[in-house]
Amino acid sequence: MSDSRLVDPFGRRITYLRLSVTDRCDFRCTYCMSEDMVFAPRAQILSLEELYAVADAFIALGVKRIRVTGGEPLVRKGLVGLLAKLGAREELDDLAITTNGSQLQTLAAQLREAGVDRLNISLDSLRRDRFAEFARRDRLDQVLAGVEAARACGFRGIKLNSVIQKGRNDDEVIDLVAFAVERGLDISFIEEMPLGSVSSHQREITFCSSDEVRERIEARYTLVPSDHATGGPSRYWQVAGSGTRVGFISPHSNNFCGSCNRVRVTAEGKLVLCLGHEGALDLKSLMRRHPGDAERLRQAIMDALQLKPEKHHFRTDEQVQVVRFMSMTGG
Ligand code: 5AD
Ligand code: SF4
Repeated sequence: MSDSRLVDPFGRRITYLRLSVTDRCDFRCTYCMSEDMVFAPRAQILSLEELYAVADAFIALGVKRIRVTGGEPLVRKGLVGLLAKLGAREELDDLAITTNGSQLQTLAAQLREAGVDRLNISLDSLRRDRFAEFARRDRLDQVLAGVEAARACGFRGIKLNSVIQKGRNDDEVIDLVAFAVERGLDISFIEEMPLGSVSSHQREITFCSSDEVRERIEARYTLVPSDHATGGPSRYWQVAGSGTRVGFISPHSNNFCGSCNRVRVTAEGKLVLCLGHEGALDLKSLMRRHPGDAERLRQAIMDALQLKPEKHHFRTDEQVQVVRFMSMTGG
């Protein structure tokens, strides 16, 4: 089956699943969670078998790309085995994982071996003190060693993700691009999104638009617009004279909803049709009421898709619109 059977009422074809495998994390990034974050009880989290059943349903319905997220996916026990099962599915064009990089030193080779094609590694600062402030953990060296370990494994692509905040790391934009260019990596700059509850900073003050970030980069580098598109929110530029692509994820200043090709499943098994809306379908309850009923699961997913919202309405002037943590939904 080449075409996805998942088409929403706005004609958008869903070919991409983001699957969160845990809400837990070994970091406590200030824009993501509080220091004393309370995680879901383990019984509420999908088992590895349930995660595979969800992925299998989406693959049967025509999904071609899966991104495994968290929390920090690599803290989930048994994850490499699940990835190997997904990596063996020939219907998938692309298996990717988003990680904070803290465990890549030990796991990068196993991930590649399991069939993971691409990695996204979060990196907000190259300065140890700042990194420790962002992540509330002093782990910069570990993450940098993880990046090097990953580079040695022959992934199809490695991309860095940086959330840029004014007055906190906006002066590092050029250093981050240089870091990526020197290592042949891609990098995306992300506008902070109004998700979860945040106490460390006021988002309307630290907000830094993608346009500002791009202007800063262009003081040093020539950016050539790229037609590279993933069906996702990123807009890409090529750094002239390098293999590095720079992406901008601009939930505030760009409306990319019209071409949205994705849905998300949280670690608790909730099917989230749009990051900017509260509505979700509880796949876990359904699977636990009807264990092994793959047809029912697929039908529920197809029915839910008819409710996918047309667009989100993120704004910078409100602290929180969606009280859902990114660590639950996995970005
Ligand atoms: N806004 C933007 N990006 C966020 N992330 C986590 N929380 C937020 C937020 N509120 C990003 C992290 C990481 C990815 C997993 O999600 O930077 O790159
Ligand atoms: Fe963990 Fe990623 Fe959230 Fe940071 S942003 S606390 S690394 S889940």
